[in-house]
Amino acid sequence: MKAGKKGCQQGDGIMVATATQIQKRLTVETKEIAQETTTIRSLDWDRDRFDIEFGLKNGTTYNSFLIRGSKTALVDTSHEKFRQLYLDTLKGLIDPSQIDYLIISHTEPDHSGLVKDVLALAPQAIVVGSKVAIQFLEGFVHQPFEKKIVKNGDRLDLGNGHELEFVIAPNLHWPDTIFTFDHKTQILFTCDAFGMHYCSSSTFDEDLATIEEDFRYYYDCLMGPNARSVLSALKRMKELPEIRTIGTGHGPLLHHNVTELVGRYRQWSQDQAKADTTVAVFYASDYGYSDRLSQAIAHGITKTGVAVEMLDLRSAEPQEITEVVGIASGLVIGMPPISDVNAQASLSTILAAAKPKQSVGFFESGGGDDESVYPLRIKFTDLGLTEAFPAILVKETPHETTYQVCDEAGTDLGQLLSRDRQINKIKSLDADLEKALGRISGGLYIITTKKGDLSSAMLASWVSQASFEPLGVTIAVAKDRAIESLLHVGDRFVLNVLEEGNYQALMKHFLKRFAPGGDRFAGVKTQPAANGSPILTEALAYMECEVSSRMELADHWIIYATVDAGRVSKPDALTAVHHRKVGNYY
Ligand code: FEO
Repeated sequence: MKAGKKGCQQGDGIMVATATQIQKRLTVETKEIAQETTTIRSLDWDRDRFDIEFGLKNGTTYNSFLIRGSKTALVDTSHEKFRQLYLDTLKGLIDPSQIDYLIISHTEPDHSGLVKDVLALAPQAIVVGSKVAIQFLEGFVHQPFEKKIVKNGDRLDLGNGHELEFVIAPNLHWPDTIFTFDHKTQILFTCDAFGMHYCSSSTFDEDLATIEEDFRYYYDCLMGPNARSVLSALKRMKELPEIRTIGTGHGPLLHHNVTELVGRYRQWSQDQAKADTTVAVFYASDYGYSDRLSQAIAHGITKTGVAVEMLDLRSAEPQEITEVVGIASGLVIGMPPISDVNAQASLSTILAAAKPKQSVGFFESGGGDDESVYPLRIKFTDLGLTEAFPAILVKETPHETTYQVCDEAGTDLGQLLSRDRQINKIKSLDADLEKALGRISGGLYIITTKKGDLSSAMLASWVSQASFEPLGVTIAVAKDRAIESLLHVGDRFVLNVLEEGNYQALMKHFLKRFAPGGDRFAGVKTQPAANGSPILTEALAYMECEVSSRMELADHWIIYATVDAGRVSKPDALTAVHHRKVGNYY
């Protein structure tokens, strides 16, 4: 369902405040979720792009929590776009001078955008966070505040049974992240972790089927690149008593499916972490668009089955950098501000630990004070490292096409590093079996899609009709295909059928290797379908499709799509058939 069609309902115990005279719908809801615990959810109904998660269709929420023992704690705030609504709501719930602690789970502006405003109303509040979070906050609050740095296992007693225990969860997805567990209510407040970009008036996760696609997509974009850190956090969570509810920072709170969804995080992260090839991705948190660009690159890398270790140039320890560079087959470096002494020292540490056999890629962060890519690039190539993709130079606010370039650059790097492993896998299959598999026939098709400013295409032969009512087809798409990001539930595409005896030119074109973000349709005759995707003029037939569901396999997604319309250009012509000698590679 599109976010714009959803209603905003007032349920039991929910207070709704609405901003007027704004184009995008912003509302705030509050609800008692446990004893003396209230959530303040800022609902951003129409947010249609959330940085790298450009597939977002369902808006998002920014969740904050008020815990009232004999002392009071506020966990996180909101995005600055909710300033008036959030502060009015907070003041309706409590006299801000009564807030004793402001717990900062993570300092990105969607959760900490109103810290300064809250502190103006509650100057007595002690700000609680990890060492890194407090450092980052000092950098943007620019005024003195009371603070308390917490470490893993530290406790804070609010009284009346609300004893809070802190869990350090670095890299989920910034180095500053902490979780907070309330021993009385057994709620774990996790900020970004276990969240999703999904806006609805349901405070909780009653309907798993509705949210699981967004839950997975969010994991893939933000958490998958930090799979080993996710596993470390899960291990720490196991030391806590039973978790009854997870108070996430985005989307519905998890209550009905805690075991199931935590289990999925564990399974997905174990799958990522067992990869035998790793890329170290370096970024500078809270600088330009460094973290978001690096996440898009990391997402592209993980699509190839290569693991990623993300490190913040500003806060990573030299020993940690040396260790990670030591095990990595590839390095990606986001240029930090030239004036940041810590980040510059980290660059020197990377250079000292780099090895000639490694691949490397660079991107500029668009922060305005970026060190130029070129001198550093020369230093690495002089050491013998191979550049895996052309340096990505960001000169303005990144757009979805920028993230597409980053994602595809990451995939190129991952494919380069996993090539040998793929070749070994191909060699290991029994010769008779691979020949038998090769006798499974398929047609030749081109999948084309366009979504906003993004477009993509793919040659496909694992296509089959799958249902009559509704009319439906399945398509197998390898996980490392660029087009995969544009084939989520609700996405639309065209299935173009190639003609026997007249397919070579189109096949050759779409088999080409395109540069990251390269235009797949340059020099190809197309016309737009009613669903917006390109129809190939030279194709024998086309069908307009909409993705209805996806099934995950180890190396492919099976995409099931319904077919809405179609046409054949030459009724007597036949479909091109793909004859293969073996079945263990395309
Ligand atoms: Fe939702 Fe990383 O902020």
